[in-house]
Amino acid sequence: MKKKLSIICSTLYLFNVILHLLLAFGAPLGEYVLGGFYIVIPLQLRIVNVFFFILWLYASYSYLAYAGILKTKTNLKIIRRFLIGITIFTSSAIFSNLFITNSIKEKILMTPLTIIVSLCSILLLIKYKCPSINEERNTAKIVVAINRSPRKNGNTATLLRNTLNGAKLQGANVEFINLIDFNYKGCISCFACKRRNTKFIGRCAVNDELTPILDKIMEADAVVFGTPIYLGNITGQMHSLIERLTFMNASYSNKKYWHKTAIKNGAFIYTMNDNRIRSIRFSYIYFVNTLILKKFGGYTTKLLSTNTYQFDDYSHYDALNFNETKKKKVQNNIFPKDCKKAFDIGRKWVLK
Ligand SMILES: Cc1cc2nc3c(=O)[nH]c(=O)nc-3n(C[C@H](O)[C@H](O)[C@H](O)COP(=O)(O)O)c2cc1C
Repeated sequence: MKKKLSIICSTLYLFNVILHLLLAFGAPLGEYVLGGFYIVIPLQLRIVNVFFFILWLYASYSYLAYAGILKTKTNLKIIRRFLIGITIFTSSAIFSNLFITNSIKEKILMTPLTIIVSLCSILLLIKYKCPSINEERNTAKIVVAINRSPRKNGNTATLLRNTLNGAKLQGANVEFINLIDFNYKGCISCFACKRRNTKFIGRCAVNDELTPILDKIMEADAVVFGTPIYLGNITGQMHSLIERLTFMNASYSNKKYWHKTAIKNGAFIYTMNDNRIRSIRFSYIYFVNTLILKKFGGYTTKLLSTNTYQFDDYSHYDALNFNETKKKKVQNNIFPKDCKKAFDIGRKWVLK
């Protein structure tokens, strides 16, 4: 059904493409378009035909790409938005074809065609909201979550699991990695990845327990890094990972300071004791990490979960600086909203 609807829309737009091409070359078909003012479009107005030729050609192609009949590198969400715009425009043309045009030919021929294409397009866009990832790529996307909280069921881990659940909902293959289980160092500045003709472009020459994790990150379509804020920064182990991941992909010769890598989406989830206002102090850290994720060329996002509940039971701890009642309130009212945001990152991400 989806393919049929797309083919109908695409063919009807293709009809318009041919019509505008002929008009641009001076064919006497002007009574079928734009109010039928001219039979042969004057030379100075043919730019309009060229514009519609390009627009309808792209629309025709977009319908086929949306249904997966033609391949596209453009994000299918963008194509969908474009098709929504085209549908609104075409639907409004029904009105002008019926009531505004002076041309009987345009009224009789173009009105039914416009109605058919609008209906098919509306049906297509309503019924097939988001092309599923499997249709889009023929394989499931791989989404990896990296947790660097030592607490495997703490705030950070909970948020990361929500992101993976959102991704799973879209058919992604997901993996959760607890960095605390792995022994490794940060970059040792060996520069093996910067030597001429090195085989370590996009790979770290250090072979340790981080190696398979770096491989997984490089193979994934989307990676979500989760870390608590420790002493005003991301955790040491997370920083070591980022050092190695970034440096092995960084190029000292490329103008963008980056080797061409597979495009991947990236997100950072930060949790902290501090409240939202105080969390602004760490903006530079969020900025740098986002900048690194952007180098991978995909969609990037971040989530801050502030004022987190740190202990199971505050009465067992010497923590008078924290207002337990307030913390509990945040835990019960705000944290679930953060979980929902984390879930949405996974859910929307896979389709980006
Ligand atoms: C060593 C250490 C240092 C911390 N430093 C900060 C800090 O500088 N700022 C902050 O807001 N919270 C700080 N925290 C609190 C944690 O960031 C916060 O409790 C976080 O939500 C814990 O995440 P988790 O539940 O996933 O382990 C620190 C916690 C620890 C253990």
